[in-house]
Amino acid sequence: MSEFHSKIKTIEWVDNYSKMVDQTLVPYEFKYVNIKTGDEMFDAIKTMIVRGAPAIGVAGAHGVVLYAQELAEENLSRDEFVRALLEKADYMAGARPTAVNLMWAVKKQKEIIKNSKSDISGIVEELKENGIKLEKEDVEINKKIGDYGAEVVPRGASILTHCNAGALATVGYGTALGVVRSAFAKDPTIQVFADETRPRQQGARITTLELTMDGIPTTLITDGMCSYFMKKGMIDMVVVGADRIAANGDTANKIGTYTVAISAKYHNVPFYVAAPLSTIDTSIKTGDEIVIEERSREEVTHINGKIICAPEVNVINPGFDVTPHELITGIITEKGILRPDYRKSIADVFEKECALCTGL
Ligand code: MRU
Repeated sequence: MSEFHSKIKTIEWVDNYSKMVDQTLVPYEFKYVNIKTGDEMFDAIKTMIVRGAPAIGVAGAHGVVLYAQELAEENLSRDEFVRALLEKADYMAGARPTAVNLMWAVKKQKEIIKNSKSDISGIVEELKENGIKLEKEDVEINKKIGDYGAEVVPRGASILTHCNAGALATVGYGTALGVVRSAFAKDPTIQVFADETRPRQQGARITTLELTMDGIPTTLITDGMCSYFMKKGMIDMVVVGADRIAANGDTANKIGTYTVAISAKYHNVPFYVAAPLSTIDTSIKTGDEIVIEERSREEVTHINGKIICAPEVNVINPGFDVTPHELITGIITEKGILRPDYRKSIADVFEKECALCTGL
């Protein structure tokens, strides 16, 4: 098990609150914050104290427990409690719109609220247990993704990744960086090229920290450089994470991923997406239906609180883009690597894994 992974748990339920790494401070500080109310959790997700699709899924599940604990103090009847909690759960699911893991995990909590036969305190307990279960499963799933992914990493490969789909985007180990970790365990001659990932610099701030802490050779490049290095033959494959995958394989991930995928296709570099099945939203046919989060202008106009442009300039800041399925070599999941035709391979895996067939 890697050094980094053994030390860090991105998010964890402790007694009656959720403890998480404050990712807005990384890499300057590595600090945990305790989130004690549902509203605090909503803000933590929205302001990206916790970020990355699987991590915000678990955060959303914890957030529902926090709301349940608060409502349990309010002297409500069981029916009133259930109604109010379902409303709060829907509110929590809206903290960020693109990563489907958030809606997926909240939906799992809503099923417990609706189906439970317990009294109010029993429902709170069941939600807590499920939150902890999702936490544990996340790490196990990521290790499986890592092991399947490692099989397609060539010996001595240089792997390009975009954004951070690592331990800090999940509960631990990571999806795209889980592939890197598992491959590195077998072959310490691999190396990673990490895109900076403007505007929030998850690649520079988080991916480089995670990988260098694990002793994995890493080179930081700016977002515009990927084609240059691909043309030089210096990139053997790309592995990225995902925020939502449509039934046809179209994949939403951090803004800039689409550009990397086009460049990879042009240069004949395999382009893989690594994600748990909970990131696949079979309720949508194509990526056109994915809601893309629009974030604040300040994320683009400022770096570390300092303005970097003409103050009045227009800004558009979509947080994600959608890579069309034609550009994707394979989708690495905990059940194996899905290949084109994705409409078929996704339908097949969901049919087999019926427990996951909840959709949205
Ligand atoms: O805005 P962020 O930092 O939450 O975006 C994160 C990404 O785009 C990740 O690549 C994705 O969530 C996969 S994380 C395993």
